[in-house]
Amino acid sequence: PIEERIKLLLKEMTLEEKVGQMNQYNGFWEVTGPAPKNGDAEKKYAHLRKGWVGSMLTVRGVANVKAVQKIVVEETRLGIPLIIGFDVIHGYKTLSPIPLAEAASWDLEAIKKSAQVAADEASASGINWTFGPNVDITRDARWGRVMEGAGEDPYLGSKIAVARVQGFQGETKEDLAKVNTIAACAKHFAAYGFVEAGKEYNIVDMSISNLHNLVLPPFKAAKDAGVRTFMNSFNTLNGIPATGSTYLQRDILKGKWNFDGFVISDWASVKEMINHGFAKDAAEATTKAVNAGSDMDMESHFYVAELVNLVKSGKVKESVVDDAVKRILRVKFELGLFENPYKYCDEEREKKVIGSKENNEAVLDMAKKSIVLLKNEKQLLPLKKSGQKIALIGALANDKNSPLGSWRIASDDNTAVSVLEGMQKYKDNQLTFEKGTDLTVGETTFTAELVFNTNDTSGFEAAIQLAKKSDVVVMVLGEHGFQTGEGRSRTDLNLPGNQQELLEAVFKVNPNIVLVLNNGRPLALPWAYEHIPAIVEAWQLGTQTGNAVAEVLYGDYNPSGKLPISIPRNVGQCPIYYNSYNTGRPVNADKNVFWSHYIDVEKTPQYAFGHGLSYTTFEYKNLKINKKEFDKNEPVKISVEVTNTGSYDGKEVVQLYVHDVTASLIRPIKELKGFELVHLKKGETKTITFTLTDAELGFYDNQGNYLVEPGTFTIMVGGNSEEGLKSNFELK
Ligand code: IFM
Repeated sequence: PIEERIKLLLKEMTLEEKVGQMNQYNGFWEVTGPAPKNGDAEKKYAHLRKGWVGSMLTVRGVANVKAVQKIVVEETRLGIPLIIGFDVIHGYKTLSPIPLAEAASWDLEAIKKSAQVAADEASASGINWTFGPNVDITRDARWGRVMEGAGEDPYLGSKIAVARVQGFQGETKEDLAKVNTIAACAKHFAAYGFVEAGKEYNIVDMSISNLHNLVLPPFKAAKDAGVRTFMNSFNTLNGIPATGSTYLQRDILKGKWNFDGFVISDWASVKEMINHGFAKDAAEATTKAVNAGSDMDMESHFYVAELVNLVKSGKVKESVVDDAVKRILRVKFELGLFENPYKYCDEEREKKVIGSKENNEAVLDMAKKSIVLLKNEKQLLPLKKSGQKIALIGALANDKNSPLGSWRIASDDNTAVSVLEGMQKYKDNQLTFEKGTDLTVGETTFTAELVFNTNDTSGFEAAIQLAKKSDVVVMVLGEHGFQTGEGRSRTDLNLPGNQQELLEAVFKVNPNIVLVLNNGRPLALPWAYEHIPAIVEAWQLGTQTGNAVAEVLYGDYNPSGKLPISIPRNVGQCPIYYNSYNTGRPVNADKNVFWSHYIDVEKTPQYAFGHGLSYTTFEYKNLKINKKEFDKNEPVKISVEVTNTGSYDGKEVVQLYVHDVTASLIRPIKELKGFELVHLKKGETKTITFTLTDAELGFYDNQGNYLVEPGTFTIMVGGNSEEGLKSNFELK
């Protein structure tokens, strides 16, 4: 009946009303907040009243959402409710770890739960649509938005995309109509993670095979999981802005994949096609975007201004507009907005749900699971629970804002549990804090000029003296939460400010350092990785940061995270990724310089994709493949025994990598094609099985065709992408 209702409604709509559905305005400041005096608010109110707005973004809070919804429901001719979008990226008010950190858990159930919590809180605040998940694969730590995705791997990224879509929307179409789910949005379609040189909003040039093999799989997985919307992208792809790309939006998404939800532009990306040099004016940009399949215009204000005339003059067919409107109405019907436009506007629920105890427990669980133990020498970790003098050093250790990370529009400043607060709960040690140096930012999230105190070493001496008289030093160093995210590309992956200097100064007096890294992207810290005995990758872990870090440091939680992205040795290695190619000269066979390498650093990453230690150890044995030769379409069954050989219970992510040795298109030296998170008690052994089918063994060619080719395949099973047990089989 939804399709029937869409048809009937569409028949009643004027062209202006249809175009209105395709228009989205930002609302918080202009409409529901204190209005800036630029006339924008007035225009937006007028358009809302005329039915020229189909959606608003960034309106939040039941009272505000109710107010804007009331305008369209009561004052427009047809009363079509607004769909209310918001960037719910890693939680709403109660924040989960940044998405890259969550990906390090490789724990799909936990990731799904985290998205459920986010949906629960956002929907209680009037919101019914998130601009997430970000499913952009990226190999470049310089790119600021690396913190928003699931890292470098399309297989892991696809699994996480599904978990997040299901977390936001529920598992079935019907779940979307529940009051605690929200529509999801797979973004940014497509290839934004491959912007040249990691520079924000830059161009992307990539082969069609790479597009299909690396970039599109998580989008396809999200589509198959039922994601209701897609957002296109700021970047160009092979010379064409994604917003104006018929290939991406019509041929692939709505054609080959048969997607029946709608596509929203990115903020002003329709307008930006003029800057790209792809459209000469608003009319041409609108024509190109709409015809290419961008259904809704976010904040270019172009569709609302141009589209009616473009249809009247025949530049855009009314059937194209109708198709877009049908898609938008479909999602509104599915959400149940027509039954009750105020269904997400329950003040009681808002009070009860947001910041609840259960939600805080869920994000704490996610935060612990996201931590990666990079290095643990001298048995520094876990810390002893009593009788130790511990120095806690670094401005970030006492920071309640930075750990919240980027993209946290609805959360209040300074609401994270700091590492200092978390560690203070362990009372039987003597814990003393010295910041050593400052790491400060300007005032607002968006306009902040990041200011780092690079010269002031006045706090060093106190930190050094404290370290001298301590048994162990915990140093919390890294990037501020606002140094990653949109618009925050970097050319340097070192510790900002004089933190490196501080680290080395403290090391001179006490080398028993546990370095806790806070960062939204991989950091290249060769000195630290070589000299510091214990290193914990703690990213930005959201509201419960300090509690999670403390539990891991004290061994109440045994870390099991694995890197979802390679950590380079230095920035010059970017882009760096584990699923690389052999090249014609992969090894130093002739002992001369003429092979594929660098002369100043090794070509391998500092820490590889999939790396992560535990307080226990695991041993892999008895890798078996059920046969040596397989027919096409015949499942390949693989098994391996994994034993917990250490002295703690723990979890291991067992990873399966595959290499198609010879093919019509060169294939990566290894590709993740299976993983399982397994819990093993001390001394326990489990047999883990994997099945490979055509879906894992093939690849896309440069026409976008999927091929499975006969030949030899090697496999590797282990605890990271660099080492493991190996075997091989033949595909006939
Ligand atoms: O959802 C975001 C997008 O990822 C980047 N530009 C702005 C949008 C809305 O805030």
